[in-house]
Amino acid sequence: MSEANAHRVAVFGAGYVGLVTGACFAELGHDVTIRDVLPGKIDALRRGEVPIYEPGLDELLERNRERLTFTTDVVEAIEDAEFVYVAVGTPPTVSGDADLSAVWMVIDELPQVEHRIVVVMKSTVPVGTGEKVRHRLDARGLGHVGYASNPEFTAEGTAIKDFMEPDRIVIGAFDAADADAVEELHAGIDAPVVRADVASAEMAKLAANAALMTRISFINEIANVCEATGADVVKVAEAIGYDRRIGKSFLRAGVGFGGSCFPKDSLALKQLAANSGYHFQVLSAVIEVNELQKRRVVGKLQELLGPLRGKRIALLGLAFKPNTDDTREAPAFVLAGRLLAEGADVVVWDPIAHADGFHGVEQVATVADAAREADAVVLVTEWPELADVEWEVVAATMRSRVFVDGRNMLEPEAMRAAGFRYSAIGRASNGTV
Ligand code: UGA
Repeated sequence: MSEANAHRVAVFGAGYVGLVTGACFAELGHDVTIRDVLPGKIDALRRGEVPIYEPGLDELLERNRERLTFTTDVVEAIEDAEFVYVAVGTPPTVSGDADLSAVWMVIDELPQVEHRIVVVMKSTVPVGTGEKVRHRLDARGLGHVGYASNPEFTAEGTAIKDFMEPDRIVIGAFDAADADAVEELHAGIDAPVVRADVASAEMAKLAANAALMTRISFINEIANVCEATGADVVKVAEAIGYDRRIGKSFLRAGVGFGGSCFPKDSLALKQLAANSGYHFQVLSAVIEVNELQKRRVVGKLQELLGPLRGKRIALLGLAFKPNTDDTREAPAFVLAGRLLAEGADVVVWDPIAHADGFHGVEQVATVADAAREADAVVLVTEWPELADVEWEVVAATMRSRVFVDGRNMLEPEAMRAAGFRYSAIGRASNGTV
């Protein structure tokens, strides 16, 4: 990239989104300053330590070291910046609304800059936030500061690829010049750019996640009906996925969705609709189906083992999905809580995530340790290493050989041949002729 095309970007927030955004903009040739309020985090980043697990992120930060600065100081971050990316957390409040206090802190902390900068919202916010930020900036005498919404569509575990090779880039702005500037910042990325008003860009983010969640709850309900009627959801998903109008992705039935985004964003959108006087029925059902889905495994275990009091249940996987250490809203925790409430002993294994602070749960280092003397094993997260386990050897060490595959990851016939009473999600038949 020529010097002329390189821009100076300040990123506020050194969480998943902020670090990925900062590292990727540096990779595109821009000079990036990442600012966070936590001195410990900034010190660690300066030492070259990455506080989160995201494949490829450490290499990217290392490779672009000379284009990356880390600071706690707002003035230092803003000094020559042309763009201020807001990538702070927006967790749900008790009412289900998004808590925007960290966003407001960034807006209120902006110094009285003389030069033109564009504030760009990367954090997921309710529709209407941009409008409010615009008013606040104007009220602070920062009318010359631009504003744009540039929502993120990156998934944990593939965030770098999702950023560098996105399906689309969405830019919402009040002023076409600001949208032009944000678009130019993405030069080097080959993707359709959707330019919109700010409210539509904000809604696009929430709607994308809602659509994906709807697919998951839909296929989970199909799975439950498959169980009741003797069909195999894996076959059904394959069959409907070939329909180009439906598509193959996000049709994996399982123990429900978790993570830092879907559960939070579904509540935020439901609440946003409710605040505007609209009852978003489909989304309410999607949320409810997901809550029930996380608990269904308990019923399966009861069917297979009888009362669970005193039974030792091994949960394989804590992270809400593989390739991340993130356990936020992970189905494993709901499951563990339910099993403990039924009086079971719960032992967990995960290659990188931790059950720290979860009282009553024992975490062990290997799959073999988790399964030894267990009455049942539940596969909760489809970690790739679980494909290579010698299940026959594991089965031989168990008290009773019950296996519930909560992600339909393993081959039913092979697991039965390994000695298990194997049950999966929505696989009442073996799906083949
Ligand atoms: C999700 C979206 O996929 C991203 O596009 C979005 O940018 C991000 O939220 C966000 O809002 O920041 P993420 O939460 O990282 O990304 O993870 P996903 O891969 O979407 O998985 C979410 C959950 O759905 C996981 O618990 C996963 O196991 C579950 N899932 C996914 C299913 O149960 N079935 C599927 O077919 C797909």
